[in-house]
Amino acid sequence: MKANVRKEGGHGVPPAMPLPLPCFDLKAFVVTLVVLTLLMAAWQLQPYRPFLSFRASCPPLTAATSTPLQSSKLASSSPSPASASEIPITGSGLPVPAPSDPNKRVFRAYGSAAALFVQMGAYRGGPATFAVVGLASKPTHVYGTPWYKCEWLPNPNPSAAANASSQPIRAKASKMLPDWGYGRVYTVVVVNCTFPSNPNADNVGGKLLLHAYYSVQSRRYEKFVALEESPGAYDESLYRPPFKYDYLYCGSSLYGDLNPNRIREWIAYHAYFFGPNSHFVFHDAGGVGPEVRAVLEPWVKAGRATVQDIRAQAEFDGYYYNQFLVVNDCLHRYRHAANWTFYFDVDEYLYLPEGRPLESVLANLSAYTQFTIEQNPMSSKLCALDSKDYSREWGFEKLVFRNSITRVRRDRKYAIQAKNAYATGVHMSENIIGKTTHKTEDMIRYYHYHNSINVLGEPCREFVPSPAQGNVTWIEKIPYVYDDNMKRLAETIKRFEKQTIGRIGR
Ligand SMILES: *[C@@H]1O[C@H](CO)[C@@H](O)[C@H](O)[C@H]1NC(C)=O
Ligand SMILES: *[C@@H]1O[C@H](CO)[C@@H](O)[C@H](O)[C@H]1NC(C)=O
Ligand SMILES: *[C@@H]1O[C@H](CO)[C@@H](O)[C@H](O)[C@H]1NC(C)=O
Ligand SMILES: *[C@@H]1O[C@H](CO)[C@@H](O)[C@H](O)[C@H]1NC(C)=O
Ligand SMILES: *[C@@H]1O[C@H](CO)[C@@H](O)[C@H](O)[C@H]1NC(C)=O
Repeated sequence: MKANVRKEGGHGVPPAMPLPLPCFDLKAFVVTLVVLTLLMAAWQLQPYRPFLSFRASCPPLTAATSTPLQSSKLASSSPSPASASEIPITGSGLPVPAPSDPNKRVFRAYGSAAALFVQMGAYRGGPATFAVVGLASKPTHVYGTPWYKCEWLPNPNPSAAANASSQPIRAKASKMLPDWGYGRVYTVVVVNCTFPSNPNADNVGGKLLLHAYYSVQSRRYEKFVALEESPGAYDESLYRPPFKYDYLYCGSSLYGDLNPNRIREWIAYHAYFFGPNSHFVFHDAGGVGPEVRAVLEPWVKAGRATVQDIRAQAEFDGYYYNQFLVVNDCLHRYRHAANWTFYFDVDEYLYLPEGRPLESVLANLSAYTQFTIEQNPMSSKLCALDSKDYSREWGFEKLVFRNSITRVRRDRKYAIQAKNAYATGVHMSENIIGKTTHKTEDMIRYYHYHNSINVLGEPCREFVPSPAQGNVTWIEKIPYVYDDNMKRLAETIKRFEKQTIGRIGR
């Protein structure tokens, strides 16, 4: 941040110009100002042309360039030019002298509220495209217009020393705000950097820099390395099919006290459901305690699951444990890892009502970039009166009462072909190319045991007689039908779990 105060000077835009420093001669300053203004005007007309680079006539007085002598002066806190760069730029930019005019008021800023950009991840998304996923101060986006530029800084190419190929390349950046309307202090930003061609075509490696501007009115910006590609790391084959997995699961933030039995059942069921060529990505925002970790660990060891520790997200006040951030990071991190990426929660179970294989269902949906999935809402506490031995049964084995109210709007979950998505949400993505379909209720649905994962003890808390086939049981003014579709899969899943990770079932 400090260094950028100087950088703005380097780009010479009058409003952001730091006050002339003592070594400026006034005439030279005015001339420089005029020249820079003209250059700026020319530059404005072609916003994506490479920046003209020129140096201020004064050596930049950043801490980095200060000599050890200056540093020691700083340490002894005597005023020195270097100390100017220590003043937060949120204030007036320079130390405030005591006002001589008693009516001239000063505004002193202390501390900082929300960062301009908080990077979670940056990923290559194809031969010429990248995504940088992060958080940004929401008021800055509501009341200002922060914008971004991308730059590729190639590593020096030893075999092409004389050629001009190691020039920085600039690219258009577009921003998406996928949780717009949900954000809190922070909102999620996905910056898409797309170059005219692969900036690392010679595979010598390089750095992707992001220039994050505070607004269109000023040239104030922060510049940082978003991603580094080491020499030889670029592998074109990663960005076209066939992909590593058929299916990928991107979980949202796990938090609170989770019942390890429910998590165990969930992953065993879905490891079976998706088949061996699938992978699960969980995000631990504090929900993966020792017991939950213990049930996930065999799957992690078997290469079927990854647990990302995102506890540090708690520092940044975004929507619900930053779940929009997490799903977008997962989208781009694994964009070319699987044919289909699924987004749903750990109290939800996918189900194929027609009994066709998943692969066949998805073949019918392959013309769509995205499809949404309808919910079967299940009671998380009602169990059948005649169920013997229920304490040994799995959650989805004994929770057999489905709320039969239809024609109400319920949350849907979804899957996408991630290669065609640019950003995503919790219930669907609105930044995709290609079609979306919602007509999937006969092919694929999900059973939702709302909040059942937060019940630490026995989920069965009320026992009711099973209604006859086709009849309903009214409980608390809600009609329930008996639905044992999931129950009938329980034995298969238990056997599968035992075969796969060798655990003795309950
Ligand atoms: C450098 O440029 C010359 C002329 O454009 C070209 O013939 C040569 O192949 C280039 N060398 C490398 C290593 O790219
Ligand atoms: C995934 O995509 C590849 C290539 O596009 C295809 O051959 C394969 O059958 C797909 N897998 C599934 C499970 O649909
Ligand atoms: C799925 O695809 C097959 C073959 O293309 C077709 O016969 C069938 O009607 C489709 N089913 C659905 C539900 O779209
Ligand atoms: C960025 O957007 C372009 C379309 O403008 C798209 O082709 C590309 O795949 C996107 N890249 C990423 C990483 O999302
Ligand atoms: C369904 O409920 C109705 C009303 O309670 C009852 O008359 C009917 O016999 C029940 N049907 C069956 C199959 O039990």
